[in-house]
Amino acid sequence: MPQDSAPSLLHDSLPVTPDESSVVPPSGESRTAAPRQGFGAAFDWVDAARDERRRAGLVRTLRPRPADSPLLDLASNDYLGLARHPEVTHGAAEAAHRWGAGATGSRLVTGSTELHARLEEELAAFCGFEAALVLSSGYAANLAAVTALTDRATLIVSDSGNHASLIDGCRLSRARTAVVPHADPEAVRTALTGHDGRALAVTDSVFSVDGDAAPLPALAEVCRARGAALLVDDAHGLGVLGDGGRGAPAAAGLAGDGDVVATVTLSKSLGSQGGAVLGPARVIEHLVNTARSFIFDTGLAPAAAGGALAALRLLRGEPQRAARVGQVAGELHDRLTAAGLAAVRPDAAVVSVRAPSPEQAVRWASDCREAGLVVGCFRPPSVPDGISRLRLTARADLTDEQIDMAVGTVVRTAPGF
Ligand SMILES: Cc1ncc(COP(=O)(O)O)c(C=O)c1O
Repeated sequence: MPQDSAPSLLHDSLPVTPDESSVVPPSGESRTAAPRQGFGAAFDWVDAARDERRRAGLVRTLRPRPADSPLLDLASNDYLGLARHPEVTHGAAEAAHRWGAGATGSRLVTGSTELHARLEEELAAFCGFEAALVLSSGYAANLAAVTALTDRATLIVSDSGNHASLIDGCRLSRARTAVVPHADPEAVRTALTGHDGRALAVTDSVFSVDGDAAPLPALAEVCRARGAALLVDDAHGLGVLGDGGRGAPAAAGLAGDGDVVATVTLSKSLGSQGGAVLGPARVIEHLVNTARSFIFDTGLAPAAAGGALAALRLLRGEPQRAARVGQVAGELHDRLTAAGLAAVRPDAAVVSVRAPSPEQAVRWASDCREAGLVVGCFRPPSVPDGISRLRLTARADLTDEQIDMAVGTVVRTAPGF
């Protein structure tokens, strides 16, 4: 049955995103121009939608940050602290000077430079895959991988905790998607049982909300028993998990296997922007020819490719960075739980701390900010299980003093403390 006619099989929760933020126009004035009047009521419905969001307390807004914020950031995904590393910014600037500010076209026309080719080569080699394809974002990489590796007759088996970009890939593919309970290889086995034909299991390697890792070896075993391929979104694993940060597929001994494809983002550990699909060369060649989010998208900007390449080389030369993220995450977890907070043991960089209610979670995050610490905040309906949390991300470059400050602030501002 095509996916359109089986909505009950789809992930139907809202995409998971942090939602504690607010509009602070730089000048203190409204940044939106007054709308021109007199062209009917075509968009009047957006006011009703806005009012509904307000009533539900679910307004999302933007908070532009200054270049030199005095706040300690435990909300970003800059796990290795490389986004502002001089070698990385130099790599980005030099690439922009040499190749231009933009890629000038889609990858199949003029948007492939030697820099893209070098990044693909080094990324694939580092993560242990035969080949790689760089796209303009991790989101585009997930759309590319899921849609190009499925057709309407394919069965996709998708973890209920997967990132929105994998979910959107499932939707776009129009394949039948069976959403299975979180991190449950037996549920994957059951979903695959009886399906005759192509099948693809898709999972995050590390889940965004709780920072827990998928059971990749068990998932691969189940897929192999049923002849299904496995697609792993390693957005939160690259740079953190595996030997020297080679990622979760490498850590699970699956990198380079003929039935495994991984996607990564260049925007978290590598401190840049962009995404990539890693896999067997024949699969990558298939994506070059068929993946619409690759073909009909301008190539990754040279600055982003140059920054990511510089970050990758730093990581390769300084493998201790990856280990340090894990240590910091473990320390945050241990100290927060020792203080009586309910934190999930982190498998990578994300440390998730439970809050008693959505309102208290928002207040808690706001109190942290007042005290100089930026943390993420998740609350329903962004989190399908209805549990609100603060989300802290460990960074390899945090000092002991900064860790003390972060722990002290989260504990001191906790509801009921
Ligand atoms: C698990 C996961 N996959 C994919 C993405 C998308 O990556 P990008 O931000 O490069 O589009 C993200 C980013 O938040 C993510 O957390």
